[in-house]
Amino acid sequence: MPSCLRFKGRAFQPGGIPHMSFVTRRKPVAVAAPAAGAHRLKPTLSWPHLVALGVGAIVGTGIYTLTGVAAGLAGPAVMFSFAMAGVVCACAALCYAEMASLTPQAGSAYTYSYVSLGELVAWIIGWSLILEYTLVCSAVSVGWAGYAAGLMEQAHWGVPKALLAGPDAGGMVNLPAVFIALVVTGVLLTGTRESATVNFVLVIVKLVALAAFVAFTLPSFDARHFHPFAPFGWGAHEIDGKKYGVMGAAAIIFFAFYGFDAISTAAEEAKNPKRDLTIGIVGSMALCTLIYMVVAACALGAQPFQVFSKTAEPLAFILRQVGRPGAASVIAGAAVVALPTVIMVFMFGQSRVFFAMARDGLLPRGLAGIDRRGVPVAVTLLTGVIAAVIAGALPLSDIASLANAGTLAAFVATACAVMVLRRRSPELARPFVTPFVWVIAPAAVLGCLYLFTSLQARTIEFFLAWNAIGIVVYLVYARRKSLLASA
Ligand code: ALA
Repeated sequence: MPSCLRFKGRAFQPGGIPHMSFVTRRKPVAVAAPAAGAHRLKPTLSWPHLVALGVGAIVGTGIYTLTGVAAGLAGPAVMFSFAMAGVVCACAALCYAEMASLTPQAGSAYTYSYVSLGELVAWIIGWSLILEYTLVCSAVSVGWAGYAAGLMEQAHWGVPKALLAGPDAGGMVNLPAVFIALVVTGVLLTGTRESATVNFVLVIVKLVALAAFVAFTLPSFDARHFHPFAPFGWGAHEIDGKKYGVMGAAAIIFFAFYGFDAISTAAEEAKNPKRDLTIGIVGSMALCTLIYMVVAACALGAQPFQVFSKTAEPLAFILRQVGRPGAASVIAGAAVVALPTVIMVFMFGQSRVFFAMARDGLLPRGLAGIDRRGVPVAVTLLTGVIAAVIAGALPLSDIASLANAGTLAAFVATACAVMVLRRRSPELARPFVTPFVWVIAPAAVLGCLYLFTSLQARTIEFFLAWNAIGIVVYLVYARRKSLLASA
């Protein structure tokens, strides 16, 4: 039997409940949860920390860049796309909080699925999370590059346009996007970790920049820009490979709301999980939804959506259009300084998923290995290089919608996991209990499925193909290597 793996000082001993079928075999929750008296993280966080953690991971390319893309798909009614995506995410986030408090371990939705829905579903979710985390790193890099390129242009650096955009946008390669993905990879390889203080400062930077955007665009607000309100209708419908309408835009802008995993994985560190997690998750979701809707309303009021929907730096572009070039540079500067932390959070997430899957025997341990400083070198390098290649070549909307597909699958699994464990193991101690679970969890499942069907056809096809490959890998390799197979 393979020896145990270590992560953050905690040892995992192989073992589990032998099940007849690899499809249904599950890890017991007791194995996933830290044993009483085992090494535990200190409960030091209260709700303001958790809100800062959540907002730090959530606010990024979604609001800074995809606002333009989504407005181009829905028109001014994109306001409703924000509301819809926010509500679905909040329901899913409440389910995450319960699962995180039950199984406060690495692996997020993959681990939650493993203890409730069985190994095959867990594998599919883990495989989807690998896709999601890599693509979020790419998408945020492309968003960062849009603002960085704008700043370089303002500074007359004279970088050839072909090196500032991928082939889809008329260039050769999006070099700034490749650059930032590799820089963050390099920083992580030095062993740098998220720091609560740096995160707090960058959250303030991101929010002050958005507040400045609102303040500078409000004087130019023109209600006539809101007519017609929903020029592409409400339901999602495909034109030239893109899904238009309020729901089509919601399926893209959904990107702006996730990242709250960061809070659910901190469940073990919350001082008063029941209160702090609820306020942390619901608070950061509500705060982000409110901020996003106000920012979107100001963008739409300042300029007709057709004007800013195609630019790679919509907020800075709008400010320049309304005669505020100084403020535009400040916003771009804030994006350039603060967005890399979002890439960092998701690269960490990737290493945790790899770690959890390798620990369970489903992926080769070499991939998830950590060096003496605790840095997961192989997975960080792999993720960084692949994310950089994708960021250099593909358009933001395609990357973001595929990342959303993986995330939606993980949300559905987590909401199902909560319901299954409520029925199967009602006796388990739940430091956080999802309120109105039989309303919230089904709402999360249905909302996510609806958003999934609102994604463009080629995203859904690619996602299914990715998982078909995943199932082959599972059948050929992971099924037999699983620690549960030898338990
Ligand atoms: N929600 C994160 C962002 O918008 C992924 O960048």
